[in-house]
Amino acid sequence: LYRAAGEDRTNSMGANLANDDTLASLARDINAALKPHRAAPLVPGTSPSGTPVPVRNPADRREQVGEWLPADAATVEQALKNARAAQEAWDRTPAASRALVLEHAADLLEQRMPQFMALCVKEAGKSLPASVAEVREAVDFLRYYALQARRLFGQPTPLPGPTGESNQLFLHGRGVFVCISPWNFPLAIFLGQVAAALAAGNAVIAKPAEQTTLVAHAATRLLHEAGIPQDVLQFLPGDGATVGAALTADPRVDGVAFTGSTETAWAINRALAARNAPIAALVAETGGQNALIADSSALPEQLVKDAIVSAFDSAGQRCSAARVLFVQADIADKVIRMLAGAMDELVVGDPGLLSTDVGPVIDEDARRILQAHAERMDREAKLIKEVKLPEGAEHGCFFAPRAYELQSLSQLDREVFGPVLHVIRWRADQLDEVLAHINATGYGLTLGIHSRIDTTVEKIARTVKVGNCYVNRNQIGAVVGVQPFGGEGLSGTGPKAGGPHYLLRFATERTLTINT
Ligand code: NAD
Ligand code: ALA
Repeated sequence: LYRAAGEDRTNSMGANLANDDTLASLARDINAALKPHRAAPLVPGTSPSGTPVPVRNPADRREQVGEWLPADAATVEQALKNARAAQEAWDRTPAASRALVLEHAADLLEQRMPQFMALCVKEAGKSLPASVAEVREAVDFLRYYALQARRLFGQPTPLPGPTGESNQLFLHGRGVFVCISPWNFPLAIFLGQVAAALAAGNAVIAKPAEQTTLVAHAATRLLHEAGIPQDVLQFLPGDGATVGAALTADPRVDGVAFTGSTETAWAINRALAARNAPIAALVAETGGQNALIADSSALPEQLVKDAIVSAFDSAGQRCSAARVLFVQADIADKVIRMLAGAMDELVVGDPGLLSTDVGPVIDEDARRILQAHAERMDREAKLIKEVKLPEGAEHGCFFAPRAYELQSLSQLDREVFGPVLHVIRWRADQLDEVLAHINATGYGLTLGIHSRIDTTVEKIARTVKVGNCYVNRNQIGAVVGVQPFGGEGLSGTGPKAGGPHYLLRFATERTLTINT
């Protein structure tokens, strides 16, 4: 995010873009790769019809990237029938064969990186480095869940018993799983949920976010090409309130994997509970009010660099993003000054350009919500910095990254999902109060700590209830199998995505006892 003299240019993820030939050539390839994309429900036995919804580039709404057809009620019904009929055969398919198909899909995805990056840039407004990371994370999910499927589902677990008795524990798919994904990781989270549910032996109905239907459609087609049967994985684009709600209210659904806002998770939980049906499994990964706590032993340069990445990478549209920097009063003036200086270096613009640090937000609704928050902050807080928007920004959904100084965390009542960092000072005798305030939000997703005092780090990490805690580094970009990701409380149910226990929530356990 810092620009030094000349061409030496480092982006938010630490890659030197000017000298990165691979990224530069991918940037050229994505322009060649992007073709107008049409998406429709993928449900055997139906023929899509209706009025297409245009998809516009969030960086320039004048550009139409493609269009898609929402699923109607008859298509939803057919998808549920197909899924029920197909599930048992898929569950009987050996786990190793299911795993092979997922690994083949990972190979295909790697070969088609430019096409998928092009969709991430043009449909979701992701920067080039974020698009590379998105495709890589999706590949990692496919390979990791294939590995876990072999480990967990490959053979039954032998259990002890008296002489003459054999006991074994088997894992099976639960049945029909509905996967409902958000737009901010349109490929990685979409494929992660779907791959996990398939690996465990479920038939899957995938309902992507409305804003990023094209990426999800291309990913579904890729899984079919890799060998997932068409009735085992079906694609149902549409509004959350209609298609999503119809699916979660249906008694034929055995489980839901959801990632999105806490409010939607509540709605889904209520819909599942209201059914007169077997109790469904719910994996819900939701939002956060993520803190970054720095004490006076923190290295200001490192702190500011990590705060900038954590708050503004992906235009702040990461559930993991730092929203509130709690900085100890002794170093606060210096840190705030440096933060403002570093923000001056941020380049907001076209996410398809190598020079861009911060692209657009996803759509006009998101921009309006952020604008309303900024207007409130302008009245109630002190503006530290507002980054300049580029010329032509009015054609896209751009929101200028900002930082505000607040008096108290109670000035924020909900997740602010965009490039806004809030800063709060604390005195040495207020650490316990700060930790209590963070826990009192009820969210528990990510936490950053910057301190060189081991006992302080240990105390903060032990006290604050979060799923992912990062010390003396940025707090975004969890790596599959390395930093299993997911929160607690209002931030999610667990188990963690990209972790060794995730597939278990998609499975049912059966014990077989034989008197030999
Ligand atoms: P959202 O809740 O608005 O939508 C998510 C999905 O739910 C979409 O597919 C939507 O169509 C669907 N949906 C909406 N209403 C529904 C209903 N009544 N029934 C069924 N489905 C419904 O969230 P979003 O704006 O797409 O995503 C941003 C949110 O996601 C943020 O809060 C962010 O923190 C969170 N998020 C969390 C994680 C995580 O791993 N914890 C990861 C990414 C995003
Ligand atoms: N897994 C994503 C991150 O860590 C949400 O940023």
